[in-house]
Amino acid sequence: MNFQGRDIASIEDFTREEINYLLNTAKAMEPLAAKGSDMLKGKILANIFFEPSTRTRLSFEAAMLKLGGSAIGFADAENTSVKKGENLADTVRTVENYADIITLRHPLEGAAKLAAEFSKIPIINAGSGAEEHPTQALVDLYTIKKERRTIDGLKVALVGDLRYGRTVHSLAYALSLYNIELTLVSPDALKMRREVLRAIQNRIQVSETQNLEKIIPQTDVLYVTRIQKERFPDQAEFAKVKGAYRVDLKTLANAKKDLKILHPLPRVDEIAPEVDSTPQACYFRQVWNGIVVRMALLALLLGQVK
Ligand code: CP
Repeated sequence: MNFQGRDIASIEDFTREEINYLLNTAKAMEPLAAKGSDMLKGKILANIFFEPSTRTRLSFEAAMLKLGGSAIGFADAENTSVKKGENLADTVRTVENYADIITLRHPLEGAAKLAAEFSKIPIINAGSGAEEHPTQALVDLYTIKKERRTIDGLKVALVGDLRYGRTVHSLAYALSLYNIELTLVSPDALKMRREVLRAIQNRIQVSETQNLEKIIPQTDVLYVTRIQKERFPDQAEFAKVKGAYRVDLKTLANAKKDLKILHPLPRVDEIAPEVDSTPQACYFRQVWNGIVVRMALLALLLGQVK
């Protein structure tokens, strides 16, 4: 399977077979993440982030360092020549001279696709507005598989902001390549984007509801998301849905013992801290999985793993 030199703009760039190959490569990275490697010695990753990030940027950087490479980049475009009016295409055509691979987070949908058109080196979409976050979806799939030993056969519920949340768009596309049942739980104003729904409905069984309590007992994987305050064009609309869901011990009273709760993080108030110490809470283990999945991506795209 050949990943060398590819861009990752969308999770839809991958087949199921490619995703499985990637997840297996991530598993093989677990011992290297613990002890380090010089697999990517001499390679440079450029993280160019036009929006805030903790996990994605730092896990890509840590992944590169664990493989013996180096990382450069910026986390605040205000301190770059973008402030002087430089456009994304010129920024990418500059950074490609300094690095072997670029991760890009940008507020605009389509930014990663545009960057990939101009870049001579691989571009990885690290979040493009409310559109997609494909590497997070790979982390999510890896976490589901590690926690449940399978993805096929599960009942998965995506909860929260399915309209503006980019992680759920990528994850829904990815899950639709597996034999799962998907329930979409959101307030009416934050229902899953219609184009995503149309695409996945052709492949898997999908239902929509506002009632979290009702679907909890039959759910195997509960994927909770933050309501994306920063993406609402009108803060009065945000006020109407703020706090729509809160998963706490009471919510979990009727849950399966082997339910797995995932969250891409950051969390605000949608999962109560009392849930963190339950066996169902996986979201901090999910953070660790971000390292090995991104190690696998870097190694594959840079051609060091075939
Ligand atoms: N999950 C995720 O994308 O987190 P950050 O915004 O902190 O990168």
